[in-house]
Amino acid sequence: MAKKEIAPARQTTINAQPRIHQRAAEIQAYGTVSHGLPLELEEPVRLEMTERLNLLLADTMTLRDLYKKSHWQVAGPTFYQLHLLFDKHYGEQVEIVDEIAERIQLLGGISLAMAADVAETTRIERPPRGREEVPVQISRLLDAHQIIIGHCRKLSRRASELGDDGTSDLVISDVLRANELQVWFLSEHLVDVPLVHAQDPGVRRAG
Ligand SMILES: [Fe+2]
Repeated sequence: MAKKEIAPARQTTINAQPRIHQRAAEIQAYGTVSHGLPLELEEPVRLEMTERLNLLLADTMTLRDLYKKSHWQVAGPTFYQLHLLFDKHYGEQVEIVDEIAERIQLLGGISLAMAADVAETTRIERPPRGREEVPVQISRLLDAHQIIIGHCRKLSRRASELGDDGTSDLVISDVLRANELQVWFLSEHLVDVPLVHAQDPGVRRAG
């Protein structure tokens, strides 16, 4: 009679202690895409798209945080409306961040996640830690939007060229359109119109 194979011993002792402080090697390196996804998109396409989407992600996470900074630090007569507007835009950018990050994961890549990695990657200028006046806050936000909008236009065209219509659609429908709308709401605050007294038609404003 053949000897029965004995399964390798497994730890069967029941132990209620949580196994904390664990570390292990990464299961996928940053900058790679996993193989064999049935998406009908070749690996080089997914590699290029995930790389470009990570740039968009880093800039969008930076803009998101710039909105919260502005929400907290805003000062002056328009405090209340801008405090609310900045937080509304922040919330919309939070959703966009999630959509971009999950698109990267869906394509088999790895999304940037941590602030230090985002800071090393973003093209948006770092603001000071201190408070700035409203026109500067809004200008910084508009500059950040401009970088993102420019990147969106190039990225969607490239995605279409490569046959990645899903990425192209996401970038146009969800990222570009939302950013364009936010730009409108912000930039109207930098139009220098009288607040109380209508301007004398005979006097032309300088600048
Ligand atoms: Fe708040």
